Amino acid sequence: MAFVAEREREDGYVHVVLITTGSVASIKAPLIVSELLSYRNVKVEVVATKASTTFFSPHDVRKAGSCVWTDEDEWTKDYKIGDPILHIELRRWADIVLVAPCSANTLSKIANGSCDNLVTSLLRALSPSTPTYIFPAMNTLMYEHPLTNEHLKTIKEVIKYNVVGPIGKNLACGDVGLGAMTEWRDIVQIVVERFKLVKKT
Ligand SMILES: Cc1cc2nc3c(=O)[nH]c(=O)nc-3n(C[C@H](O)[C@H](O)[C@H](O)COP(=O)(O)O)c2cc1C
Repeated sequence: MAFVAEREREDGYVHVVLITTGSVASIKAPLIVSELLSYRNVKVEVVATKASTTFFSPHDVRKAGSCVWTDEDEWTKDYKIGDPILHIELRRWADIVLVAPCSANTLSKIANGSCDNLVTSLLRALSPSTPTYIFPAMNTLMYEHPLTNEHLKTIKEVIKYNVVGPIGKNLACGDVGLGAMTEWRDIVQIVVERFKLVKKT
């Protein structure tokens, strides 16, 4: 059945959209979902780029209690005027959006206003009042590329998203340095503190 925000939102709940992009750190998506859902009155929807689906199984996200939306879900064959449009419904549903991890490619697309997939269409259509957090994750040299700094500057100063990280550690590619995604538990903690979430008993 189509996703319709009005039907899926529930009073008293915090609705979290977790966006994953093509960094190895997407592997943490099922952990982030399951930890968020260990708090009372939280719902999570995962929105994934094609590249990010390499790194985790939708089955594991479903097992954790959420589901994964991709470009295939956006592009239905028999669209009729008035039918729900997925990226609009997801942005209507969201109380908070986490882009964790944010690849160099998606970072660049956000900074330049591109909207050529479900993830970037959702972000481009998002209300400026919806808190949005970007957690960059990339190889150290990608991070140190001069354009990354330009993109981050635009994202912070023009689009006014919150940028958290990256952190320094041994990266999956074998390099050591800045570029790793903020620890997944710290990402969950941002939501917990912002909405004063309470653990389920
Ligand atoms: C195994 C593997 C790991 C990758 N890890 C990263 C990464 O950590 N950060 C990054 O920015 N790109 C990484 N890439 C490259 C991106 O997946 C690629 O740029 C892709 O086009 C990103 O698309 P998306 O932004 O739509 O998800 C990786 C690619 C592969 C094959």
